[in-house]
Amino acid sequence: MSQEGASNSRRRFLTGAVAVVGGVGAAYTAVPFLAYWNPSATTRAAGAPVEVDTSTLEPGQRMNISWRGQPVWVIRRSEAALEALPTLEDTLADPASDVASQQPSYAQNTHRSIDPEFLVVVPICTHLGCIPSYMPKAGSLDADWQGGFFCPCHGSKFDLAGRVYAGVPAPTNLVVPPHRVAENGLLVVGEDDEEAA
Ligand code: FES
Repeated sequence: MSQEGASNSRRRFLTGAVAVVGGVGAAYTAVPFLAYWNPSATTRAAGAPVEVDTSTLEPGQRMNISWRGQPVWVIRRSEAALEALPTLEDTLADPASDVASQQPSYAQNTHRSIDPEFLVVVPICTHLGCIPSYMPKAGSLDADWQGGFFCPCHGSKFDLAGRVYAGVPAPTNLVVPPHRVAENGLLVVGEDDEEAA
């Protein structure tokens, strides 16, 4: 093979290798149950809003993102989970989300989000800051459990809207960050309609 031919074939090989690596990267975001969205370091440092494609999430699935250096979980709730939320109110410390610091005003509702199907929440326990376990299945913690978050550090429990149960160490509901649904259907975390206007 001439020197020029060898150089062309090496170039073709490298182009193919890059295409394969790109394909693997794209497939990674489609991993079922737990996907991880990792914006660039510059985006994270600036605290810029993060756009999330929720179309790949099945009911019960969770996606981890990072916004302003803290974890944020995006969870698609099942129909059964949504139906259970109003039935839990007597067992919760702040069922109506009266503590205003824990969510934007548009999330002061039973599901604590803009779109009832999708919860956007900062998974940092409001007691001493541990990361709770995500336990979406009814009955997986105890017989009355309707799905939610369990903090292994001192036993605080939260429902699938991030509302804290009464009688546990955590004093308040989990934090819901600003979020909105963009015109293209993407979920934007870290910005709401008021800020975007
Ligand atoms: S840090 Fe979660 S219960 Fe104490």
